[in-house]
Amino acid sequence: MAAGQGTRMKSARPKVLHTLAGRPLLQHVLEMAGTLGAQRPIVITGHGAERVESAMRAALPDVPIDFVRQQPQLGTGHAVQQAAAQLAQHAAAPGATTLILNGDVPLIAAGTARALVEASGGRRLALLTVELADATGYGRIVRAVPGEAASDVRAIVEHKDATPEQRAVREVYTGMMAAPTAQLLRWLSALSNDNAQGEYYLTDVVAMAVAEGVPVVAAAAAGETEVLGVNSPAQLAELERRLQRAQAEALMAAGVRLADPSRLDVRGRLACGRDVDIDVNCVFEGEVQLGDGVRIGANCVIRNARIESGALIHPYTHIDGEALGVTVGPAACVGPFARLRPGARLGAEVHVGNFVEVKNATLADGAKANHLAYLGDATVGARVNFGAGSITANYDGAHKHRTVIEDDVHVGSNCVLVAPVRLGAGATIGGGSTITKDAPAGQLSVARARQVALSGWQRPQKAAKASKG
Ligand code: UD1
Ligand code: CA
Repeated sequence: MAAGQGTRMKSARPKVLHTLAGRPLLQHVLEMAGTLGAQRPIVITGHGAERVESAMRAALPDVPIDFVRQQPQLGTGHAVQQAAAQLAQHAAAPGATTLILNGDVPLIAAGTARALVEASGGRRLALLTVELADATGYGRIVRAVPGEAASDVRAIVEHKDATPEQRAVREVYTGMMAAPTAQLLRWLSALSNDNAQGEYYLTDVVAMAVAEGVPVVAAAAAGETEVLGVNSPAQLAELERRLQRAQAEALMAAGVRLADPSRLDVRGRLACGRDVDIDVNCVFEGEVQLGDGVRIGANCVIRNARIESGALIHPYTHIDGEALGVTVGPAACVGPFARLRPGARLGAEVHVGNFVEVKNATLADGAKANHLAYLGDATVGARVNFGAGSITANYDGAHKHRTVIEDDVHVGSNCVLVAPVRLGAGATIGGGSTITKDAPAGQLSVARARQVALSGWQRPQKAAKASKG
């Protein structure tokens, strides 16, 4: 179910597209459902339906999702009614079970969802419940013997429809259930909106199951976090912190040393080798791999990159591999204040220092660009030294061109290499040169005005002020 408006988010964005750990809430739920081997997920959209549908198609191109629209939104029962035609296609299969999840409850664990489906077994109505200290607003689990957990579930009563005695119940319905599909379809068609909110309550199917003699079972959630929904920015931030904390704990359990587990954000997948150290305030996005002994300084943002063993990333480095990725070779040294962009490929022991930008460029083993440089669309050989302030001029206003710098070249400071251009192996480029032609191997190329000294030249003098008589 993903049709609700999410009024309390106070946002133009549909609620289920707000992100947790960098991915939309609904995507978390669909990815989890994917691990259960669901036949075909059905997503009920309504508020912002087009945006929600296109975002999910883009995020999960390989998942065959059936989208159905609920317009207007008349309650959770009405929402599931919209999927009746799709559910009917599977209802005849033996043991056909429908698992109902919420697009705004993103951290539901696969194990819990699987247990819920198994509790249903295609024969029972299984409800995921949790005990809350403050159950205000939730549907209460009503049992044959009030308060007795072992006693049969009789109904779910919504908070607004509940008696004072029922409101005292702390066992609540989490919004997730698994039901035999054929029966569910029958119950859905019998729902009415005769209640305090004038809505079609999905939860009314419980009393219908009881009346038919279909067993209703309650499965307890593993913890509170996995059943928390997102209704407001504060709740979104709370879930983000819980998820980040859990990810940090898992990394530490695997041996990663975090300077502070509360100052780490992983928005994607971070794979680490042995003896990895990560200082405070680092953000990892997309797919990031850190080899053995990698050290990441404070305040680095790293996305879609592979950093090989022993590499050292100094503070304030920004690495963004986007679709092409970035690789940093073994024992390389990057930053502080370095920027590696898509297609940066650094070999072993490469040094990229402060205020150096590398894009779509390969730096072979031992190459160095230590200060204030731009290497774009370049092939840089082994042991090249690229001087401070030097750049590749790769763009002529219409096209990008390549610069090839062969092994052991020394590029002085403040050079402009106008691509396409090739510097032969062992060439030296004098500082301040603008290189527009290939430079021969092993020679010094200089391309700047010759220095002259003017012997008779006089520095201008300020005219002396006339003294007051
Ligand atoms: C529902 C349950 C309640 C339970 C609570 C847990 C009903 C009647 N009540 O409450 O017992 O304790 O969840 O959070 O089911 N949605 C739609 N279309 C609609 C209405 C809702 O798609 O017309 C979606 C929402 O986007 C949301 C989910 O259904 O993802 C739950 O809706 P919400 O309004 O948060 O739940 P309640 O009805 O308050
Ligand atoms: Ca509601």
